[in-house]
Amino acid sequence: MVETSGRIDQQHRSELKRLIPSLLSNHKTLFTMLWIAAFGSVFIWQRNAINGMLTFRILPPIRSMPNLRPVVFNLTDFGAVGDGVTLNTEAFERAVLEIGKMGKKGGGQLNVPPGKWLTAPFNLTSHMTLFLAEGAVILGVQDEKLWPLLPPLPSYGYGREHPGPRYGSLIHGQNLKDIIITGHNGTIDGQGQSWWIKYKQKLLNNTRGPLVQIMWSSNIIITNVTLQNSPFWTLHPYDCKNITIRDVTILAPIFQAPNTDGIDPDSCDNMLIENCYISVGDDGIAIKSGWDQYGIAYGRPSTNIIIRNLVIRSMVSAGVSIGSEMSGGVSNVTVENVLVWDSRRAVRIKTAAGRGGYVRNIIYRNLTFENVRVGIVIKTDYNEHPDEGFDPKAFPVIEDISYIGIHGHGVRVPVRIHGSEDIPIRNVTFRDISIGITYKKKHIFQCAFVHGQVIGTVFPAPCENLDRYDEQERLVSRSSTQNNSDIDYDI
Ligand SMILES: *[C@@H]1O[C@H](CO)[C@@H](O)[C@H](O)[C@H]1NC(C)=O
Ligand SMILES: *[C@@H]1O[C@H](CO)[C@@H](O)[C@H](O)[C@H]1NC(C)=O
Ligand SMILES: *[C@@H]1O[C@H](CO)[C@@H](O)[C@H](O)[C@H]1NC(C)=O
Ligand SMILES: *[C@@H]1O[C@H](CO)[C@@H](O)[C@H](O)[C@H]1NC(C)=O
Ligand SMILES: *[C@@H]1O[C@H](CO)[C@@H](O)[C@H](O)[C@H]1NC(C)=O
Ligand SMILES: *[C@@H]1O[C@H](CO)[C@@H](O)[C@H](O)[C@H]1NC(C)=O
Ligand SMILES: *[C@@H]1O[C@H](CO)[C@@H](O)[C@H](O)[C@H]1NC(C)=O
Ligand SMILES: *[C@@H]1O[C@H](CO)[C@@H](O)[C@H](O)[C@H]1NC(C)=O
Ligand SMILES: *[C@@H]1O[C@H](CO)[C@@H](O)[C@H](O)[C@H]1NC(C)=O
Ligand SMILES: *[C@@H]1O[C@H](CO)[C@@H](O)[C@H](O)[C@H]1NC(C)=O
Repeated sequence: MVETSGRIDQQHRSELKRLIPSLLSNHKTLFTMLWIAAFGSVFIWQRNAINGMLTFRILPPIRSMPNLRPVVFNLTDFGAVGDGVTLNTEAFERAVLEIGKMGKKGGGQLNVPPGKWLTAPFNLTSHMTLFLAEGAVILGVQDEKLWPLLPPLPSYGYGREHPGPRYGSLIHGQNLKDIIITGHNGTIDGQGQSWWIKYKQKLLNNTRGPLVQIMWSSNIIITNVTLQNSPFWTLHPYDCKNITIRDVTILAPIFQAPNTDGIDPDSCDNMLIENCYISVGDDGIAIKSGWDQYGIAYGRPSTNIIIRNLVIRSMVSAGVSIGSEMSGGVSNVTVENVLVWDSRRAVRIKTAAGRGGYVRNIIYRNLTFENVRVGIVIKTDYNEHPDEGFDPKAFPVIEDISYIGIHGHGVRVPVRIHGSEDIPIRNVTFRDISIGITYKKKHIFQCAFVHGQVIGTVFPAPCENLDRYDEQERLVSRSSTQNNSDIDYDI
């Protein structure tokens, strides 16, 4: 059932050529054709990854070379039954325990075969690959009594929806290294419907759990899986380093699925998100770094993040957000080649007095908006606080933001940048903007307390707050009304 350490040593000594036939001859072996297929596809994918890295401007190279595991287990070897009814928590836990023993030898892979594998939350371990075959579905159990409670995140002080403990995530990890969640587009399904209803009926006493949450960990690769119907945020890397998320599909109903954000990079450093499709009931991506006084005290920024080649839909919130919890700071973010369609907002920075922290050095490049109510948003009065203990004088700094190559059609308000006397927006740049609009009255490029510049021609005509430069970056006219406000939420 489980590889003995003797077997593993033997495998280590073997050459691949010898290894495969000898393993296949042993029908008890856990190496399979599937493993070989995975080997091949992971190899191709690594080559793509290395080519892609060369074009990075900000992000230091992530070593996204996944370690191939010397041992592979099949979930069924631990007694799991994929009938959608049997609870398989113990099988997952036993598999993780076995893989946990293999860390020094390169870890292990757990294959989840086709079927519906119902489980309560379980933890991952270091040097683990969770591999979901085509047709494999991990189903989260809906009975909240089976979801363990964990302490609040230190940078939030709170569960988020309720004070005190919060539900853990369906797939959880803390203080780990080298985690891979991949496969042939198998699915992790949180069956969030019952959670959303209970949340709305105020039947829950604790904050709902994310689908996948990995905390205080490094070297994480999540590729070629589908994540759907999370009770709460879908994928939440918290205070992690070196994270690659690629070829992931994230789905939740676009209405009536409260807080089902797609990906929430939270106090994370060095992260790449690419080639994903996200359609959810809240923000597609929301970069965060803690909440008010708790986030300021924790003091861990989200930085060095690249988001590219995505298609996102968010009818309730925004395609890509920064904040509103950003008290540890957010910097060095590039968002490029992203299509946001049929959404309420496309890209949004949201914050409030009390947050402290900063949002700086953010580049948005080559974005397409299709049928979006408000395209570019910066909002500085997102007044949602954990408790009365926040410092109303902790003003966030927002600066050095550029929007380059923003196009699209069917947009009602292309730009709404709403700074304030206390939280002015500094050094915003617009270049190569042409957004097809649906509402041709005045004031659809709205600004308040904004300092910055427009380079070349921009459509629709920019607000008065911005300096004008020509295509050659020669000053045409300097604005004298940076504090002008033509914000109008009624459009
Ligand atoms: C992150 O990746 C870089 C580049 O491979 C590596 O030097 C660094 O040690 C990694 N960080 C952690 C915490 O593993
Ligand atoms: C896992 O075990 C099941 C049932 O024994 C089998 O049908 C399946 O082929 C195995 N899958 C792998 C990848 O070994
Ligand atoms: C999973 O990890 C959490 C957080 O470390 C811990 O409280 C819980 O006991 C772990 N569960 C199992 C089954 O090991
Ligand atoms: C991703 O999953 C699909 C669907 O099963 C499969 O055809 C493809 O080979 C996988 N890609 C990689 C890189 O593993
Ligand atoms: C993966 O599955 C999702 C949901 O079933 C599907 O929408 C997506 O196209 C699939 N991706 C690949 C690469 O096959
Ligand atoms: C919430 O608390 C109330 C009152 O203590 C209790 O009756 C109810 O069962 C709790 N609900 C859940 C989902 O734990
Ligand atoms: C942001 O990137 C710049 C280089 O572009 C680098 O000097 C700086 O250290 C980065 N900030 C953080 C917090 O890593
Ligand atoms: C811009 O992004 C779109 C995807 O939204 C992509 O198809 C196109 O190739 C990108 N253009 C450039 C110049 O990178
Ligand atoms: C304004 O922001 C841009 C990046 O968006 C940066 O290159 C430039 O140095 C900033 N200017 C000032 C005066 O800080
Ligand atoms: C604009 O507002 C800033 C504070 O946000 C203030 O320092 C500055 O004096 C104001 N400028 C004018 C012309 O009122």
